[in-house]
Amino acid sequence: MTTIRLQLRFIVPLVLTLVAAAYLALPVMDRLTLRWFSRDLQMRATLVANTLSDSIADAVANGQTDRLQALFNRVVQDERLLAIALCDPRGKMIQRSVGMPGSMSCPEAARTAQQTDPVLKLPAGSVLVSWEPVNGDQGLIGHLVLLHDLSFIERRSQDTRQYLVILIAGLGGVIALITVVVAQLSWRGWVSGARALLRGEGLVRPLVGAAPELAPLADELRARLRDLEDAYRRSQGPQTEWDPQRLRGLLRTQLSGDQVIVVSNREPYLHERVDGAVVVRRPASGLVTAVEPVMRACSGTWIAHGSGSADREAVDAQDHVRVPPGGAGRGDYTLRRLWLTAEEEQGYYYGFSNEGLWPLCHVAHVRPVFRESDWQQYRAVNQRFADAVVAESRVDDPVILVQDYHFALLPAMVREKLPRATILTFWHIPWPNPESFGICPWRREIVQGLLGSTILGFHTRFHCKNFLETVDRYLEARIEHEHSTVTFQGDETLVESYPISIAWPTAEETALWPAVADCRREVFEAQGLPEGHRLAVGVDRFDYTKGILERLHAVERLLEKHPQWVGRFTFVQIAAPSRSSLEEYRGFQERIQRVAGRINQRFGAGPYQPVRLLAQHHEPDAINRLYRAADVCLVTSLHDGMNLVCKEFVAARNDEQGVLVLSRFAGAARELSEALIVNPYHVEETADAIHKALTMPQAEQRERMASLRMTVREFNVYRWAGRMLSDAGRFRLRRRIEARVLSHQPDEPSAAR
Ligand code: G6P
Repeated sequence: MTTIRLQLRFIVPLVLTLVAAAYLALPVMDRLTLRWFSRDLQMRATLVANTLSDSIADAVANGQTDRLQALFNRVVQDERLLAIALCDPRGKMIQRSVGMPGSMSCPEAARTAQQTDPVLKLPAGSVLVSWEPVNGDQGLIGHLVLLHDLSFIERRSQDTRQYLVILIAGLGGVIALITVVVAQLSWRGWVSGARALLRGEGLVRPLVGAAPELAPLADELRARLRDLEDAYRRSQGPQTEWDPQRLRGLLRTQLSGDQVIVVSNREPYLHERVDGAVVVRRPASGLVTAVEPVMRACSGTWIAHGSGSADREAVDAQDHVRVPPGGAGRGDYTLRRLWLTAEEEQGYYYGFSNEGLWPLCHVAHVRPVFRESDWQQYRAVNQRFADAVVAESRVDDPVILVQDYHFALLPAMVREKLPRATILTFWHIPWPNPESFGICPWRREIVQGLLGSTILGFHTRFHCKNFLETVDRYLEARIEHEHSTVTFQGDETLVESYPISIAWPTAEETALWPAVADCRREVFEAQGLPEGHRLAVGVDRFDYTKGILERLHAVERLLEKHPQWVGRFTFVQIAAPSRSSLEEYRGFQERIQRVAGRINQRFGAGPYQPVRLLAQHHEPDAINRLYRAADVCLVTSLHDGMNLVCKEFVAARNDEQGVLVLSRFAGAARELSEALIVNPYHVEETADAIHKALTMPQAEQRERMASLRMTVREFNVYRWAGRMLSDAGRFRLRRRIEARVLSHQPDEPSAAR
């Protein structure tokens, strides 16, 4: 509609101009045509007079008026010559042909013929008048008056007019067409530019790439978009914000199941024995970061693998422990630990989950390994967890939140025992396209297992699309793309995208944070950095999907390209050890150590080491202080479902300073477009982004950070869970109504999921 309106704005003035031009051009054309033909007719008149002069002289000399009359009448048989007459030298008309108007006199004919346009308007139509001398042997005999019919000129000029109108209309059509095409192309260019901006692929890249002079305009456009977005958010008011209370209310009102059970492999708290004492640790896991606040809001039971060295010492006879440790009352929930044998852990966790599914789904150029024995363990462990879910259920319709790729088979297993349960499965990692997924020998079983869920969630629409295509490729199931549902063996699953997030820190929490200056002093002291030094940080598990190697290469390139940073810039990488018993991970960790060592050797001097690799576990408080101390945070994942480090960094910066450099291959890039978005494989681009971040004026940092904070605050983890749970509520209601209609039983719901 908009494009049509725009095109009309071009076309209407164009058409009006053409009509006006035609209106002015036509009388001019008429005059020109008359002039051209008048000249021809005058020449013709001279020719006729010359031809007839002898015969006329002869007839006049012999007084043969009859002969003269016959001659004149013959001459006017020519269709263009209307009449002819002869005037004597005194100006008296002595002979006239038929058709010569009686009112025509010789003086009038002579006068008219001498005008620029020798035209007379007679009742029968316009005529052109010629006055030609006739000479005999004795000199001038008189003048011939010739009246030429002009009606044919009018006919011709009408034809010319028609052709001219057609020509102008045709020309107008062609111009309009060209205008429309050019307008369409430019419009699409702008639209795709704006889309790229909204997707967070940098700033109006299609426009700026082609024409750098548009860069200021693109900056302006981005600023305006940001203002509009902020204004919209503000106009929506606080009621749009999700928090623990709203989530609890939703559970009470929309979901009849009053018990919430979470299942994940990684537990939210580990009890570890360190130097004879038991300490409680929070693991480095995006999943735990996101789900723990939801669980605090809903209470309930969290079932997970008890993997801490002192975990068994902390649980009761039912393998339960109340967490968070030290907390009492509201916000508490039960952690149910499930114990795995070394073989089970090896096959299910290290083998199938992390050597098979993890590289399969991340497509980060590490080959997945699939072993039959791992698959057997994976199935058995899924069954053990499913049994634990059933055992923990106090009602027949609990709300079960299944987490991640460790439990692809569990939803269908639980469904079998608890058909009325609401099973919400969230896949925290990417889902590849059907071709990539197809290399898994048990692809059908995995997809079938997941379709036991009421809702299956991914971070992005793109991953949902990949999943639906995978179902389409490998199963006989009905897919309704319009509603994003899959019906398999009579059961329906909603496949939706729910971008995960973090719990936005409360005012009470932030009040306990040390000031940014104090954090900076503390971190600088710990790292031995002088005042005025610039600091970039990376916080990840030691995993090949996180792009740590690429990040180091970018830091190296920065120091090469901008030597002014040597001695003035340090990059601190926290790399929490992860899955270290896998060869792939060990090899990766060694490689990172080597590259960091090489960069330090190349650019370091004395105590100065540009790269600090802290390959150990850090608790959330320490990480928060590091975020607050940093000038730049680098998140350069090669592929990531969402990535929560970037959101934690944004949440930590309540001073609205600091710059986020973010990989376009992390799901978070779709939301956090105010970050400096990079392709981590493009070392040069990432190095330039770090330089830009280090030199970014404070005002710009504030503007970007304020906008990022608004996004993360609104799109928080309660919204993630709330949206999933409300969808589940709606979905259950619809199923229930359909079941009632089908069974004609007004009260008792059938097995609604
Ligand atoms: C990713 C996965 C989580 C996992 C986390 C840590 O975020 O999606 O399921 O917990 O990595 O990995 P780990 O193997 O240590 O649990």
